[in-house]
Amino acid sequence: LQYGTTEGDPSLRKMLVERHNRQGLNLSIENLIIVTGSQQAIDLIAKVFLNPDDYVICGLPSYLGGINAFTVYGAKLKGIPLDEQGMIVEELEDTLITLRELGRKVKLLYLIPDFQNPAGITLPNSRREKIIQLAKKYDILIIEDSPYREVRFEGEPQKLMQELDPSGRVITLCSFSKILAPGFRVGWVIGHPAILDKLVMAKQTADICTSTFVQKVIARYMEKGLLEQNLKKTIDLYRERRTFMLQCFKKYMPEAVRWTEPQGGLFLFVTLPQTINANDIFNKAIERNVAFVTGSTFFCNDTGRNTMRINFSYSNPDEIDTGVKRLAEVICEELASK
Ligand SMILES: Cc1ncc(COP(=O)(O)O)c(C=O)c1O
Repeated sequence: LQYGTTEGDPSLRKMLVERHNRQGLNLSIENLIIVTGSQQAIDLIAKVFLNPDDYVICGLPSYLGGINAFTVYGAKLKGIPLDEQGMIVEELEDTLITLRELGRKVKLLYLIPDFQNPAGITLPNSRREKIIQLAKKYDILIIEDSPYREVRFEGEPQKLMQELDPSGRVITLCSFSKILAPGFRVGWVIGHPAILDKLVMAKQTADICTSTFVQKVIARYMEKGLLEQNLKKTIDLYRERRTFMLQCFKKYMPEAVRWTEPQGGLFLFVTLPQTINANDIFNKAIERNVAFVTGSTFFCNDTGRNTMRINFSYSNPDEIDTGVKRLAEVICEELASK
């Protein structure tokens, strides 16, 4: 129960490296460090790389914890719209050209390529490759934040951007939060050793090391093969709940409502008719004991007011049925009042 090295428990790092290498990467131990949740990694990257007024590019929508971490270091955010395959590459290039013409410094591109939070979309390999080419051309680092990657119910996994770019431009963030326990606060970062050295220096002043006790618990858990066993059970359970929630949406939601049908992750992303503001129906839903996250919080340009993120993994089928029914009633009442 002593302090450990800032880089993380050697046996845990080794097991994670071997696991990734079995999945197609070619890592050595210097390419991987342990962090106190991937949220810490986002914060450390922002601390190390960003100066006030630097630009960070993210998706429209994008994970709120990422957006907030960049803005507290004084960065400016520029959002790029997504279509059903993820970030639109042409829009990304147009934005990079415009920002360059304006003399703005773009440092980071923040992506959630697998089951994007909140939109649930996975970027195909072809787009991943194009985005890496653009990052090279405009000299930007890519943060590949991928906590949901392993929570896949069906379909083929796409390649990690880390695998597609051996040049060291991609910093990949992974986490035990969605595959084991978020309360453990353990994640890991894969990247070029020169980048990881800087993150380790920043981590030393943040928390010295991630809990050595929890790291050893996880290492033991992995050694016994329990991670893969539990992950399979988790995926089966979440798949069932996803499928059930989709059935409830079809059954109860009015015609004008649209929603995603994700192949993994934890969320449906719902688009209401333009006339409805999700903030307006939030309290009415809460009064009926139904909660969701208003979509506008994920849009750095103050749009997305008619969207919401709904979790399907937590509630049991009875609760899902009741919840979707009540939510549909609130939406129908709001539509009728317009
Ligand atoms: C996209 C994304 N990144 C990072 C995090 C933070 O994860 P962690 O618990 O590993 O800090 C989350 C949590 O929901 C997330 O959705």
